[in-house]
Amino acid sequence: MPLSSRIPDFYNKTIEERRKIITDILSLSEHDISILQGKESAEEIFEIMIENVVGMVCLPLGIATNFIVNGKDYLVPMVVEESSVVAAASHAAKIARKKGGFNAEYSGSFTIGQLQVCDVKDIELSKQRLIAYKSELLDIANSTNEILIKLGGGAKDIELKTIKGNLDSYLLIHLIVDVKDAMGANAVNTMLEALKLKVEELTEGRVLLRIISNHATKRTVKVTAVFSKESLGGEEVVNNILYAYDLADNDIYRCTTHNKGIMNGIVAVLHATGNDTRAIEAGAHSYAAKDGIYKSLSKYEKNAEGDLIGSMEIPLSLGILGGAINVHPTYKLALKILGVSSSEEFANVVAAVGLAQNLAALRALVSEGIQKGHMTLHARNIAVTAGAEGKEIESVAKKLIEGGTVTYDKAKQILENERTDRG
Ligand code: MEV
Repeated sequence: MPLSSRIPDFYNKTIEERRKIITDILSLSEHDISILQGKESAEEIFEIMIENVVGMVCLPLGIATNFIVNGKDYLVPMVVEESSVVAAASHAAKIARKKGGFNAEYSGSFTIGQLQVCDVKDIELSKQRLIAYKSELLDIANSTNEILIKLGGGAKDIELKTIKGNLDSYLLIHLIVDVKDAMGANAVNTMLEALKLKVEELTEGRVLLRIISNHATKRTVKVTAVFSKESLGGEEVVNNILYAYDLADNDIYRCTTHNKGIMNGIVAVLHATGNDTRAIEAGAHSYAAKDGIYKSLSKYEKNAEGDLIGSMEIPLSLGILGGAINVHPTYKLALKILGVSSSEEFANVVAAVGLAQNLAALRALVSEGIQKGHMTLHARNIAVTAGAEGKEIESVAKKLIEGGTVTYDKAKQILENERTDRG
């Protein structure tokens, strides 16, 4: 039976019960479970990943439910320190699934590598030479990666630009590489290194920078979803979401926060799966400003029925293999839980999570406000800080919320009263 990501009451279960549910759905092994429990995160792994290791930080891995993307159900692993993110994504996905879920379209895994050539005497003449030698340059780049070529990827094109800097005018070479299912930084940077000598010979210049660009304009996803008026809370909520979007699209102070909300979801999936969150964040924000003004990554409009249509176009250079994914068992397991088999499928789901996260934030902001959702988990944190344990955490948090004052002192007092009452 195909997987369903609709798991009613998932949030009310214990951690053990949730693990059992996803184990049954995904046929996880004993080994997978011990990875989820953090038992396989040995220091030797961290020693391979970065330098000067002295310890580790453990963060919660949650599962967002309800996602349908291009007709397929997904359970989405998310690692994030902020409360409400996983619940909000699941809630928006539940609204979207009533109208068929998210539709996403991928541009292809084309990644841009940059070669900066300095001290070029005649940039136009050098460009002509580079164009004449284009196929030889592509061959040099492709000679560095047999596997990628076998998979149908590799360097496909070269684009040339002149950049007027303050110190010099530069000949800039963009190498366009289809990196297939990798994030691509290693593959592209290796190709750029291999091109250095030939480019210096052809331009009689000096190659300085040889590095991938995170402004990933050729590796984007377009995602859309319909959110029904009824599920959102009625016509007024839909209209107010449009006002909220309008503000984001016209005021950079609001827009930065709006786009941050999108990245809440995206970065959480990237953390779970060992992807480069900084590359994706940088790429998303530069894409938001690609027309010279920083704009909302998402768009909202109403259809004839008064339902809300959300859409978004975002660059997503994501890998399902290579880099840290090969080293850390939790990253591999997170990808197994997600059940994606290509970076295309992965990017489509990640874009859907970003749109869901944004819609959830806007719906909350124009309705009950964002604090209410945050408060429940905040109250639990305060209860724990005040010393609550086990079942006490829920009951102290509940009383804090009901009393309307969520402070450490109040939590301490409630806890003492409860313990005295119990004797
Ligand atoms: C909080 O992490 C994210 C929000 O601020 C996003 C938004 O304001 O749209 C709620």
